[in-house]
Amino acid sequence: MKILVAYKSKTMFTKRYAEMVAEEVQCTVMDFKNVTIDILSDYDIFVYGGGLYAGMINGFKQAKEMFEQSKAKELVVFATGATPNEAGNDVIDTMWNNNLTAEEQDHIAHFYMPSGLNYENMKVPDKLIMKMMSFMLSKQKNKSEYDASFEQAIKSSYDISSKEYAMPLIQYLSNK
Ligand SMILES: Cc1cc2nc3c(=O)[nH]c(=O)nc-3n(C[C@H](O)[C@H](O)[C@H](O)COP(=O)(O)O)c2cc1C
Repeated sequence: MKILVAYKSKTMFTKRYAEMVAEEVQCTVMDFKNVTIDILSDYDIFVYGGGLYAGMINGFKQAKEMFEQSKAKELVVFATGATPNEAGNDVIDTMWNNNLTAEEQDHIAHFYMPSGLNYENMKVPDKLIMKMMSFMLSKQKNKSEYDASFEQAIKSSYDISSKEYAMPLIQYLSNK
């Protein structure tokens, strides 16, 4: 089975996770911007990784379209995000429901990998969005415990990424 792992990464979290997968699984890793339908058609499994931006997986729609036009046989997706696993399954499930239909969830293997926030690598428009979010949270009255900890968390960069979170995808690919 030939495996291509392609990533779209603004602040390098997703790229790092793609590289962790490549440390354990025989595959080619590539920036998604360099992937063409011809290249994709040369692989059996297309693993796409993207960061979450306002709940949506960066670039996933385009990746899906390319997969459908290619000869690759299986699409697998992973998302990285600032949301810690402690936020609970409901939060992660809602995210998947926003990105994959119920039918897609049945046949596209999907994996979530907590990452963090990296203000140093962030471009100005994204920094402004985060600042606005921070401001709105600071004004919110009767904050839930989750909102209060989220408000604290997004004030500065943090990195909760760990290879342990890439293991379910690594195991999935190793069994192919
Ligand atoms: C503007 C903006 C919106 C974000 N929205 C979410 C989100 O909805 N859920 C989440 O878990 N993380 C969110 N994040 C955090 C990113 O998903 C996280 O840092 C991700 O790993 C970035 O991946 P990348 O650096 O590979 O692009 C957001 C970050 C920014 C800057």
